[in-house]
Amino acid sequence: MSLTKERHVLELDSVARYTPWWQSTKRLKEEHDALTERLDHMKALVKSVYDEKDPARSRITLKILKLRVNDFISALKEHSEWEERDVFPVIDLYFRRLMKPSITPSIWVMERDHELAVLFVNSFVDAVDALPEKSTLEQNRQTAAHLMQACLILSEHFELEEDLIYPLADEMLTDIDYFYS
Ligand SMILES: [Fe+2]
Repeated sequence: MSLTKERHVLELDSVARYTPWWQSTKRLKEEHDALTERLDHMKALVKSVYDEKDPARSRITLKILKLRVNDFISALKEHSEWEERDVFPVIDLYFRRLMKPSITPSIWVMERDHELAVLFVNSFVDAVDALPEKSTLEQNRQTAAHLMQACLILSEHFELEEDLIYPLADEMLTDIDYFYS
């Protein structure tokens, strides 16, 4: 038995009309794919801190990660602000009109995950700043653990969001096509 869950694949190429909603859905997918890729690279780098045998080298990796994660969080913030402004309210309104359940409670849960991840990122950054000049492998690993926690929360956050939003976004694309046909 396979434990791999089937993910929803957005059918962006099969629409008849390139509407503003199609643009939003396309942007959503592109940004998610790009952020997930960056997250996976970060995770691999965090893992390398656990595997590294030389404390000086793992300390350098931590400093690189500190810069990368700061950039990542800014990109994520921009993405989330756009979603909360231009994507989620449109979906919510659309499905409410069809008397379907509101997505608002799920969005609250996702926002909480996001905040929790940012807390772990902040504690990672503080831990990197507090590292002694000659930190041990163990201290470096403990520092990396904060970021690993953040990465795991964020990966799950993207999956949850895609599982919730992609099927709805797709349904809207189909409806809009049907409406214009
Ligand atoms: Fe998102």
